[in-house]
Amino acid sequence: MSSSSPAIPVQRFLTGITTTGTPHLGNFVGSIRPSVAASRLAGVQSFYFLADYHALIKCDEPSRIQRSTLEIAASWLAAGLDPERVTFYRQSDIPEIPELTWLLTCVTGKGVLNRAHAYKASVDKNTAAGNDPDSDVTAGLFMYPVLMGADILMFKAHKVPVGRDQIQHIEMARDMAHSFNHLYGEHLVPPEAVIEESVATLPGLDGRKMSKSYDNTIPLFAPREQLRKLIAGIVTDSRAPGEPKDVAGSALFQIYQAFASASETAALRQAYADGISWGDAKQVLFERIDQEVAPMREHYLALINEPARIEQILQAGADKARQTATPFMRELRQAVGLRKLGAQTGSAKKEKISKAAAPVFKQYRESDGKFYFKLLDAHGRLLLQSDGFDNPKEAAQTIAGLQTQGAAALAQPENRLHTPAGVTSDEVAAALQQLADAKA
Ligand code: TRP
Repeated sequence: MSSSSPAIPVQRFLTGITTTGTPHLGNFVGSIRPSVAASRLAGVQSFYFLADYHALIKCDEPSRIQRSTLEIAASWLAAGLDPERVTFYRQSDIPEIPELTWLLTCVTGKGVLNRAHAYKASVDKNTAAGNDPDSDVTAGLFMYPVLMGADILMFKAHKVPVGRDQIQHIEMARDMAHSFNHLYGEHLVPPEAVIEESVATLPGLDGRKMSKSYDNTIPLFAPREQLRKLIAGIVTDSRAPGEPKDVAGSALFQIYQAFASASETAALRQAYADGISWGDAKQVLFERIDQEVAPMREHYLALINEPARIEQILQAGADKARQTATPFMRELRQAVGLRKLGAQTGSAKKEKISKAAAPVFKQYRESDGKFYFKLLDAHGRLLLQSDGFDNPKEAAQTIAGLQTQGAAALAQPENRLHTPAGVTSDEVAAALQQLADAKA
């Protein structure tokens, strides 16, 4: 299975799709199509899976989860994913994933999870409505990033292709890997997010991002006539036939661009300038999408009518995935001390982790383009969070200030620093002192 060519180092790609709905054109352009393309590259090993444990966080309809799992699996296969080449599996067939989730839970600061966007959004919504901050928030939602970390770290993925909204989760998986390795030795590989810059998020029928939550989607495998009808419903402005039209802000044009070649796109741009009618433009879009989707649609329908065949493919994928996961989990259990009692364990001194646990500053850039840093304690717990700085130098200077002035720098408002609830300035001061001592 492993290509042992020494010339090209293998890069492992991994991504999952949550099984809560019917795949739409946005999923195809943003995730399914690029993941299939990546899986065909030389030197790439791909792990693609159906995130059905994640689905439970958002969906309590069992039949919907089952149906969505079938539809997403069939879509991936119809789009050309080769299960011989890719490790293609269902998350819940890999019991090692929830097992690793627990090990990671024990090295993840609760304060770190408090800052996760999805959880914070729920808290903010509750607070705005005057409710208890955690009203209707399940522990599953809170733990979402840890489960996702286990998905990624289990297969030592280097690259994780995701949408922008998932960058923070990849950052967290990196932090989990560092915390774990710090405590137990180098076992986990810190991953990196891959953002497909050329694929802007696809707009939906109403011009907002195509998303199940806006109810503005076009199902990827809608029958031809339904596809025509849905495309006819895309919002446009009220310009009459013959009037020049704007490509900027035109959902129709953006969707076309995601399917068409550069020269086809240029031709439609010209047609807009020449005053093509909206009806004709929609016809052009419909034919272009149908041309790409029709052959896959046939394959999809055949697959969806043979769930047992898909089940077989997923079982084979799970077997393949577990050939990696089972021994790796054994290694990790050993590393943390979940061990058989018979064999004599290494002596305590040999076991002792080489490096003394130490706090660490981390600098990073968020999707708003600004530069941030945070201070984590030795267990990855968040002690200090900065606001965004316009350039990395300002952030670095603030860190330098903290290192020379200690906790006194916290009191200066221009440093724009926050300590999360439950963290005292004494703890921050102690961590800074520990860093200073280590340097000396
Ligand atoms: N959270 C991802 C989403 O909603 C799905 C997902 C689950 C995932 N586990 C993953 C993506 C691991 C990448 C890697 O889009």
